[in-house]
Amino acid sequence: MSEKACSCNCSENRAAQFADLAPTLEKYAKVPGSLITILQKAQEIYGYLSPDAINYISEMTGIMPAKIYGVATFYAQFRLEPIGKYLIMLCKGTACHVNGADRIEEAVSEHLNIADGETTEDGLFTLNNVACLGCCSLAPVMMVRSNEGDETYGNLTKDSVKAILDEIKEKAEVSA
Ligand code: FES
Repeated sequence: MSEKACSCNCSENRAAQFADLAPTLEKYAKVPGSLITILQKAQEIYGYLSPDAINYISEMTGIMPAKIYGVATFYAQFRLEPIGKYLIMLCKGTACHVNGADRIEEAVSEHLNIADGETTEDGLFTLNNVACLGCCSLAPVMMVRSNEGDETYGNLTKDSVKAILDEIKEKAEVSA
């Protein structure tokens, strides 16, 4: 007879749900001034800060959810909505800006029908403008983050960026 997974909101279930965050909470939950570190780690693991994650962090740190929401909404780095399977980090640093990052952003936005910070309707891509990615000699540059890791694409043109996105989409459809 198969056992059904527990779907209640009991503390054991929440601890299992956020097991990957446990080492960070063990280290920082009671250290004053560590909320941002905890939120950064939670976002790195789960891709965004869900209401459940915020409630769990509140429970473990003793910090009120309202305060956590206050911090999460104050800093642009935090997301309260899920991101796409592929996170496009488009560099808008100085070297990339000088080499046409705005045109690349325009091409991505037109091609995927999303603006900075938005996710495509199919949940495949999220576009995020970022500061220098550290590979300025390849400007303009974007990095695409997914479960498979980070992939960097340099010397982008309007045409090459569209081709790269089409290729990623095709690959995703084949593996779906
Ligand atoms: S400015 Fe874009 S990688 Fe440095």
